[in-house]
Amino acid sequence: MAVTRTIETVGVVGLGAMGAGIAQLAVEAGFDTIGHEVDTSRGEAARERIGHFLTRKVDKGQLDQASCDAALGRLRLTTDVADLAGCDVVIEAAFEELEVKHQLFRQLERALAHDAILATNTSALSVTEIASVLERPGRAVGMHFFNPAPLMPLVEIVRAERTEDEAFEAAFALGDRLGKTPIRCTDTPGFVVNRVLIPLLNDCVRVLDETGVTPADLDAGMQHGAGWPMGPCALLDLVGADVHVHASEALYAKLREPRMAPPPRLVRMLQAGKLGRKSGEGFYSY
Ligand code: CAA
Repeated sequence: MAVTRTIETVGVVGLGAMGAGIAQLAVEAGFDTIGHEVDTSRGEAARERIGHFLTRKVDKGQLDQASCDAALGRLRLTTDVADLAGCDVVIEAAFEELEVKHQLFRQLERALAHDAILATNTSALSVTEIASVLERPGRAVGMHFFNPAPLMPLVEIVRAERTEDEAFEAAFALGDRLGKTPIRCTDTPGFVVNRVLIPLLNDCVRVLDETGVTPADLDAGMQHGAGWPMGPCALLDLVGADVHVHASEALYAKLREPRMAPPPRLVRMLQAGKLGRKSGEGFYSY
């Protein structure tokens, strides 16, 4: 397969915080964008979210009204995977469950042109394993964005075991066109950043218990003593206890390093529904 097609239309599957952020990047970069969600209300919620953040840019003089309107006009929504047929690339940002991703990748392969690229935004699963259900796994690649996707400059471009050069380089070039700083990674657990960040955040939570410091003091410590843009507890509230615990478990299962295992305090928060910003309460109240 030669992935030589020019990328004009981008599909995004799953329009939660990450998917909506990726769709925002795509429309801002001038791509016709088709967002897929399982039901219309979730799709509309994502459109509102994108509209909100683009309008804030207009309010702050970072974007003119015409460009904002044009960007929003480039977003189409669907609940039918078949409507993604014309996409040159689809970035899957659905729930982090292998079975969910397998099902989607099978459907996407049936719907898309033979030379379209299939990217996954997985943060802790193996891209190779996700792509294993494809008849043409060479077209699959990881494109791992960071939360919040419109603000964080990095995208990890992940070469899976069978990713072909054309697909890999096309994804790298797309990351660049989306205004990101792409880096080339291999399909190792957590890729580069989460391999470092997940155990580090887990250490931070264990330090809370070991030292008895408050989340606010730990956050102030890491912000003002280590130059972090936000403290670890605020960051975990942003990422969500559900997402972080799931990613920690996935890395622990693969690497068996004790620091990868989710700290009991975070697991208790998850069980109590204290997920962070998304539930209104985590280390802090929102
Ligand atoms: N989507 C789109 N736009 C957003 C947004 C979002 N989720 N959140 C904020 N914005 C926009 C808003 O319009 C906001 O302006 P207003 O508040 O005036 O409306 C504007 O961006 C600026 O927001 P902030 O003032 O909050 O920006 P800041 O300068 O304080 O920076 C930050 C915020 C970029 C998040 C910064 O604090 C930071 O870098 N934090 C670290 C984040 C980080 O480490 N992320 C990685 C998480 S780990 C991960 O993602 C991996 C994984 O697989 C789970």
